[in-house]
Amino acid sequence: MLEARGLRKAYRAPSGTALRILDGVDLTVESGRLAVVTGASGSGKSTLLNVLGLLEDADGGEIRYAGEHVSALSRAGRSRARGRFVGFVFQAFLLLPDLTALENVLLASRYVGRRAPEARGRARALLAELGVGEREEHYPAQLSGGEQQRVAFCRAVLNDPPLLLADEPTGNLDDANSRVILDALRSRARTGAAVVIVTHRPEAVPDADHVYRMHAGRLHEHPGLSRREA
Ligand SMILES: Nc1ncnc2c1ncn2[C@@H]1O[C@H](COP(=O)(O)OP(=O)(O)OP(=O)(O)O)[C@@H](O)[C@H]1O
Ligand SMILES: [Mg+2]
Repeated sequence: MLEARGLRKAYRAPSGTALRILDGVDLTVESGRLAVVTGASGSGKSTLLNVLGLLEDADGGEIRYAGEHVSALSRAGRSRARGRFVGFVFQAFLLLPDLTALENVLLASRYVGRRAPEARGRARALLAELGVGEREEHYPAQLSGGEQQRVAFCRAVLNDPPLLLADEPTGNLDDANSRVILDALRSRARTGAAVVIVTHRPEAVPDADHVYRMHAGRLHEHPGLSRREA
């Protein structure tokens, strides 16, 4: 589903020196597989996810979704590919304050033209699955942090994206809510999505198919933690 080859990305530090954040990253994640990426703060994990999800451009390398060379598309084409293929789960969940929980989730459906009643039914089922069904009419300010994060998760998966990219999806959550989100991500992998989770706690995802560590601009597989051969 996801194939990245030779990704490179450098930022210019304020002093002018180039910081090589991605220095030849290769990553393949097949449909139905769960990959975990760990690494020190500042090692480039968020940069990698943003590049993989076509939110940021790489300086070099290529990205394919389902075999399609999406990193070579025009800006509009990349944006369409992102809408069609990718669900993002961010740590900062970015709910719109003037929309209710349900309306925030439904925002996602605008991008694929799914019929409204169908999208609504699905959004409500998702909110219920994540244990926030009773809160669908609440505005973000009326939700706890963990509830907001679960609503944001529902928004990310509403369109059943075949590729899910999650950046510290449980960063602000207690153990019980972390489990809810991780279980939901896992169940998306079981039903065929390719899932990439960035986390400082790989032990919280004991059934990951692959566990990688980001170091010196590259991904290294943790042989002890991965269940499958790369
Ligand atoms: N726009 C930018 N301009 C310059 N440097 C940047 C920019 N964005 C990120 N960086 C630098 O790139 C490096 C990688 O950042 P990134 O956010 O990918 O790290 P991370 O692994 O996600 O860290 P954390 O675990 O703290 O979230 C950091 O050293 C950061 O300072
Ligand atoms: Mg980060």
